Amino acid sequence: LIHPVILCGGSGTRLWPRSRKDKPKPFLPLVGDQTLFQQTVARTTDAALFAAPTIVTGAAHAALVEEQLPDGGGVQIIVEPSARNTAAAIALAALRLPEDAVMLVCPSDHYIADIPAFHAATEAAMRLAAQDYLVAFGITPTQPETGFGYIRSGAALDGGMQIAEFVEKPDIARATQFLADGNYSWNGGIFAFRAGHFLKELASHRPELARHVRRSVESGSEDGARFHPDAQSFAAITPESVDYAVMENTGRAAMVPVSMGWSDIGNWHALHDARQKDAHGNSATGEVELLDCTNVLVETDGPRISAIGLSDIAIVIDGDEVLVTTMEGAQRVGKLGGAKSQ
Ligand code: GDD
Ligand code: MG
Repeated sequence: LIHPVILCGGSGTRLWPRSRKDKPKPFLPLVGDQTLFQQTVARTTDAALFAAPTIVTGAAHAALVEEQLPDGGGVQIIVEPSARNTAAAIALAALRLPEDAVMLVCPSDHYIADIPAFHAATEAAMRLAAQDYLVAFGITPTQPETGFGYIRSGAALDGGMQIAEFVEKPDIARATQFLADGNYSWNGGIFAFRAGHFLKELASHRPELARHVRRSVESGSEDGARFHPDAQSFAAITPESVDYAVMENTGRAAMVPVSMGWSDIGNWHALHDARQKDAHGNSATGEVELLDCTNVLVETDGPRISAIGLSDIAIVIDGDEVLVTTMEGAQRVGKLGGAKSQ
């Protein structure tokens, strides 16, 4: 069995005004009826393949996690006393699992359309992780996105290939070059590894970080399904993502290529792409009337929205906030004062 480790961390700003600090993206039903977090739990709940999940989250969101979890035993919730990014969050989970447990690290804020393809890739990743590879899920890139990690394929392995080079968040010039090269994949942000092997790699590349996390777990305390690492040792950690801390530095990285309708739902445009649309490419949520509109996303939790003759626009009403943007402008929503000051 593979042990799902679900990361519920930082709150972004690009899906403002729907996503807010007190209720960020993972906990919203953005595609379909279930929240992204609930979908993540659901696709890693299959008794033939998965053990009970470990959820790693901050104190501010632990109650939301519990509220949205289905009933069922064995779930462990690790409550971070402060946010120290993903290398530390994953290390916490690794230290709470048996050394030989194979972990499947899953972001809680992604959408995956093809679950069978995800499960097939998970099985391939599990086999490589058992051979002490740090395994990433490789996604075919479609544009020179600078917010992702890039993976250059190396020698073939059973069910995947070695990673010749891992480059986290390149600048636009390098991203453009990687796309043209054709031999690069995006890192999907999902990883598989044996807990003990991950900790060994972390200790060799980031010894300080590894020491602090270990100390915080040794002096931590249990409270029902919740585990609280010691706040003081955890606070001493220099925040760094697993991509920079480990994946860029390891000599034992592998990739499983997968085509599963993956999206990180990075902004309103990406969300529109993932949603069900009518014959004119419109997606409407709430009380909405559209006349002669194409490729618009319109969403309201209150007043009715009526629109005529629009194309390539997103309109979002959430409580006391209204957002209107072109699809092209959706990437820059985080720059708005409203999004920054929430
Ligand atoms: N528990 C916990 N604590 N979770 C965290 C923390 C933390 O301190 N920081 C981030 N997370 C969670 C986020 O909620 C998300 O689910 C996941 O970890 C990844 O963090 P992001 O902040 O979204 O990373 P990113 O999108 O910039 O980059 C990562 O994902 C890309 C794919 O979407 C990298 O792995 C890239 O290489 C990758 O391409
Ligand atoms: Mg992300």
